[in-house]
Amino acid sequence: MALSLSSIGMVLMDSMSSETQGRVVPTGRSIGAEIRGVDLRALGPDEVHAVRAAWQEHQVLLFREQSLTLEDLLAFSRHFGDLDLAPIQENGRRFVEGHPEIYVVSNVVENGVAIGSLGSGEAVWHSDMTYVDNPPIASALYAVEIPPSGGDTSFCSMYGAWDRLSIDVRRQLDGLRLKHDATYNSGGYVRQGVVETDDPRTAAGVWHPLVRVHPESGRSALFLGRRRNAYVDGFTPQESDALLDMLWAVATDPAHVWQHRWNEGDLVLWDNRCTMHRRESFEASSRRVMYRTQIKGRI
Ligand code: SIN
Repeated sequence: MALSLSSIGMVLMDSMSSETQGRVVPTGRSIGAEIRGVDLRALGPDEVHAVRAAWQEHQVLLFREQSLTLEDLLAFSRHFGDLDLAPIQENGRRFVEGHPEIYVVSNVVENGVAIGSLGSGEAVWHSDMTYVDNPPIASALYAVEIPPSGGDTSFCSMYGAWDRLSIDVRRQLDGLRLKHDATYNSGGYVRQGVVETDDPRTAAGVWHPLVRVHPESGRSALFLGRRRNAYVDGFTPQESDALLDMLWAVATDPAHVWQHRWNEGDLVLWDNRCTMHRRESFEASSRRVMYRTQIKGRI
């Protein structure tokens, strides 16, 4: 089905029914769009198709004012593929009881036990779970409780990062592999079962190509994962750091970032193959509870 541009620059999803007719409203940054007027509990095949098309174009989609149970979140996420199990939390627990696919991102402690991961500090730029051979292609994050300030999540485009590199640098990256560290999560916590180290050459992790072609869009994207303990195969540590520092500066240039201020009921769907995200810190005494799913994939 076709998506058509309206006169005021918004995209209308022609295929959507009158009750759920949605409009795609770009963020005004070089990444991200909000889809308005959609109830994620009631998407038909045409609407899923239209959401997919908007997602491919904008890489990150925001849906506001949703009212989802955990089952609704799982059902929505499954429109995009099978789900990965949630990563293990910092305290060794894995997930919400009975829902092994749901990762809880939260600073809340109940009866002395953290209910989720990543605390209230910054979660540094990353794409999800790139320390495994087949990281999830996408993630959906649903906001249940939001602090009065802080905790915003920012997104950057890895297509944009690639596009902004000079031809000479792109040639230099061709065929290079990058180690994606498995030691630390984005909150800086050491993952269960790994030896803590800050030597990228010996750190636990997996190798991925530094540049990948997105299988659906056909566009090239830098694939950086996380900065800490990252290491370019065949380079000295100094050469590797110099190249990576340059690439990270291009990728996370604030001029090309979209920052989302959350409201309860927001759901954000992002594509891990062509984006990275970062969560800012917030007041530790306030509560933030988010549920995330991970959509399996392989490229
Ligand atoms: C995440 O990195 O998946 C969590 C982002 C957030 O807490 O906003």
